[in-house]
Amino acid sequence: MKFLVINGPNLNMLGIREPDIYGRQTYGDLVRLVSEAGEEAGVETECFQSNHEGDIVDKIQQAYGAFDGIVINPAAYTHTSVAILDALKAVAIPAVEVHISDVSAREEFRKVSYPGMACIRTFAGFGFEGYRMAILYLKEYLINAG
Ligand code: DQA
Repeated sequence: MKFLVINGPNLNMLGIREPDIYGRQTYGDLVRLVSEAGEEAGVETECFQSNHEGDIVDKIQQAYGAFDGIVINPAAYTHTSVAILDALKAVAIPAVEVHISDVSAREEFRKVSYPGMACIRTFAGFGFEGYRMAILYLKEYLINAG
């Protein structure tokens, strides 16, 4: 099983950006957690981060036929991107959405998620652990889907 883990804009700034919301751990720490969680679950993982919407769309399209599942934190594009929603729908690869913070408890504009409409589940507000939860959930989902 092979999962693509996508992180959107400004997540490369983890550890520096708004530490009271996102914590002090860096993007490098997140990549390590994903890799460890993948190993624990017996799943191969690849991490991709971009600040550019079109690059994220390209990466999702390239995942077609190459990955069994997608874990995605679209970051700010969560609340604006019909293009990422359409890309997820186009490839129809089972996807799980992750947010480090609890987006439902923040500003009104963060309550809408376009990519989330193409995801089987969302984990929000669990910090970096949400990625581990997403990997495990996706693995179980794919096993049950058979
Ligand atoms: C985020 C939440 C988004 O609203 C925000 O724009 C981000 C990060 C999160 O992981 O909590 O960049 O996706």
